[in-house]
Amino acid sequence: MNTYATVVLAAGKGTRMRSTLPKVLHPLAGVPLLVHVLDAIEAIPSTKTFASHTALTSTHRPVVVLGHEAAQVESVIGQRCQYALQAELLGTGHALLSAQPAVDALDPLPQTILVCYGDTPLISAEMLARVLIEHLTRQVTITFLTGQVTGPSDYGRVIRDSEGRVQEIVEVKRATEEQKCIREVNSGVYCFDRAWLWPMLHALPRNAVGEYYLTDLIGIASRQGCEIATVTGSLEETLGINNRVQLAAVERLLRQRILEQHMYDGVTIIDPATTYIDSGVTIGIDTVILPGTMITGKTRIGSACRIGPGTTIDHSIVGDNCVIRNSALEETILEEGVQVGPFSHCRPGAYLARNVRMGNFAEVKNSYVGAETDMHHFSYLGDATVGEHVNIGAGTITCNYDGKRKNHTNIGSGAFIGSDTMLVAPVNVGEHAATGAGAVVNKDVPAGALVVGVPARVLRISQPVESSPEESNKKE
Ligand code: UD1
Ligand code: CA
Repeated sequence: MNTYATVVLAAGKGTRMRSTLPKVLHPLAGVPLLVHVLDAIEAIPSTKTFASHTALTSTHRPVVVLGHEAAQVESVIGQRCQYALQAELLGTGHALLSAQPAVDALDPLPQTILVCYGDTPLISAEMLARVLIEHLTRQVTITFLTGQVTGPSDYGRVIRDSEGRVQEIVEVKRATEEQKCIREVNSGVYCFDRAWLWPMLHALPRNAVGEYYLTDLIGIASRQGCEIATVTGSLEETLGINNRVQLAAVERLLRQRILEQHMYDGVTIIDPATTYIDSGVTIGIDTVILPGTMITGKTRIGSACRIGPGTTIDHSIVGDNCVIRNSALEETILEEGVQVGPFSHCRPGAYLARNVRMGNFAEVKNSYVGAETDMHHFSYLGDATVGEHVNIGAGTITCNYDGKRKNHTNIGSGAFIGSDTMLVAPVNVGEHAATGAGAVVNKDVPAGALVVGVPARVLRISQPVESSPEESNKKE
């Protein structure tokens, strides 16, 4: 059985990003660059190319080489991979050598080492599988992935002899004007024969730039007469991110891919140019996304919803048949048939049950709002629990903050809260109670009571509506 181990080089500072955040943690479609690469690596065994090579396995988590802000990267990425530390940032060759102890500790010991960079997030599992399979079927010392550029670029150039055999990779910094015109470039994915790799990496000379370049191994192998194979892939998949201009270019490509996938999966996107959907968002069929909409984080949207225009939804769950117009949702849950907006804000912890109608100009924070409740014009619910079939009148607010603490408000099912009511928390409004317009409620309101005034006082208490014998039977 053949085994391989994967090493991802991600120790670099990312100087050209000019950022305090390590480069591989910069988000792309909402997900750190490095996570995209790890997703591709994990998906290798399920690719079509891999299917007929069941004898090839990787029994290990990928080894990620970290250096700059290693602890920060590790805490974001977690335990899906193992880590090696490059103590001093001396180049990609040195980075790979830093992974040797981790790789040599693997059991079984892999014959093949697949190497990729943490800053090429569009790499696909299929492409990685192609490089691996080519390497194993050709039984060569090195296989690497190349791409074709159409203009100037910062990739290493692939130098071949007159018979097309690879001679070396020349980095742009060291390339002659003639070499800079070469269109075939190094995409930064390699397979190495492990037994050959380590001694060569140990012997790798420090170059004129003061670094140990992984790419210098190609020239060494060629001079030794070792066989080197290449696989040519689309450059688009291996775009490397060194600066924020490249980050934006890759972001645009990935977003387009994401939108197309949703459209193929049955979602209507009226204007892809102004719609932004993070990687990992799920959307049910027949949902329509209107212009100017951003759906981010781990958001799930149901079927047959209408979202937008001008809407942002972050880390939220939206049930089927919801309508959200010109509104913002964060860490919110909507059950089916909920309507939000226009111009409403659901803040973290908002939970709107079935068929709630909220807005325009309404805000809910850290509150449960029961099914069929109406909450329209200029209202605010914070730290509240609201029952079913409640009417929240225009201008109603929970005065939930007393300057020190956030206090809770309970509103029972069937209550009718008159316009401009101030609910001074902590306070409870009983089932089927009502408040008059402008009431300032600072004491609990019994079930069925009508309270009015400032501060609100009880005007009358209605008898609970007797349920008919038929209805009581139903309840039992
Ligand atoms: C590298 C290749 C280049 C190739 C390009 C493809 C080398 C010398 N050059 O150039 O031929 O065309 O990628 O995208 O390899 N890293 C470390 N430790 C270090 C330095 C870098 O772990 O000491 C990591 C970085 O975090 C990064 C990756 O290696 O993820 C590549 O480094 P980078 O500096 O971006 O190399 P390029 O200049 O893009
Ligand atoms: Ca790079």
